[in-house]
Amino acid sequence: MSRATPIPNIFVAAGVLLLLSCSVILFVVVEASDGFPVVPFEEGYTQLFGDGNLVIHRDGNSVHLTLDEHSGSGFVSHDLYLHGFFGASIKLPADYTAGVVVAFYMSNGDRYEKNHDEIDFEFLGNIRGKDWRIQTNTYGNGSTGAGREERYGLWFDPTEDFHRYSILWTESHIIFYVDGVPVREVNRREEMGGDFPSKPMSVYVTIWDGSDWATSGGKYRVNYKYAPFVAEFSNLVLHGCTVDPMEQQLSMNCGDIDVSSKSMPAAAELVEADIDNHNIIISPRQRTQMESFRKKHMTYSYCYDRTRYKVPPPECSISPGEEYHLRKSDPVTFGGNKRRHAGRGGRRHRSRTRSPTY
Ligand SMILES: *[C@@H]1O[C@H](CO)[C@@H](O)[C@H](O)[C@H]1NC(C)=O
Repeated sequence: MSRATPIPNIFVAAGVLLLLSCSVILFVVVEASDGFPVVPFEEGYTQLFGDGNLVIHRDGNSVHLTLDEHSGSGFVSHDLYLHGFFGASIKLPADYTAGVVVAFYMSNGDRYEKNHDEIDFEFLGNIRGKDWRIQTNTYGNGSTGAGREERYGLWFDPTEDFHRYSILWTESHIIFYVDGVPVREVNRREEMGGDFPSKPMSVYVTIWDGSDWATSGGKYRVNYKYAPFVAEFSNLVLHGCTVDPMEQQLSMNCGDIDVSSKSMPAAAELVEADIDNHNIIISPRQRTQMESFRKKHMTYSYCYDRTRYKVPPPECSISPGEEYHLRKSDPVTFGGNKRRHAGRGGRRHRSRTRSPTY
């Protein structure tokens, strides 16, 4: 990501000033957009499917996606990105939403059929009175045989208000955030080989009928008596290095902030940049929050699923606290010998490969 031409000092100074002024504004807008500029829908995205089931709202910064008996709906970023920070404020449909899936994800499946990359946030609806579940997942270079799913409950009702869901993707890390709290960190390990997403991806947002697997493994299907299901999105952030699809990585444009370098503190509280190593690290305070979230709210992690992985994949760091919690919430998978989570390893169908059992 380094440029061959040195940047004149005047521009560096202007950049610093810009960052400083941004950080003042940050305090006001940090909740809305994690501190990054919001991209109006028309500027950053284009409709993917669903005709009239996608509606842009007045300010151009919010979009409603509907699933009804005719269709789901979705949109995709104009650009391809190699690394960056991507986020959305999302309000999920309330009431009976079994079988409904809302997804905010990155993928290049349309360009690389056999060896695509993917980074997913998926929201799985539920029967009345039961909470939505969040699932995160990553694939690299077509590693669909090795699902890396995790699932979590939330500490709030995601149907009552907008909450912020974000993905930070660098050469060495993927971090998933909910309302600025890191909920999952994937550290790239050499042993992962191509399994770490490393080719440019587009950003997708969709709502669709996941009757066959989304809620209790397909037990509860979408019931269109409760349609339309409307998910609301606003304050979309697309802050990455765009890649010209014709030339691929030759003409990368990271704008004036390169997320993988020292300018990262513009994201304020989210991450601290390890300036000397040009690396991204989670601050100690953020790490404590992440550990606490995972101990309380994680309901499934592939890292602890011994029926799928005799040996945890290389990037897993096993935490006794997490293991204890998971064993309590799902003794069959994490303590016993039943093959409840085994099988179905991972054929890709729009990335939805495994059936949550919650
Ligand atoms: C990615 O997949 C392609 C095609 O299967 C393969 O040729 C290539 O070596 C893989 N790259 C890595 C880094 O594993």
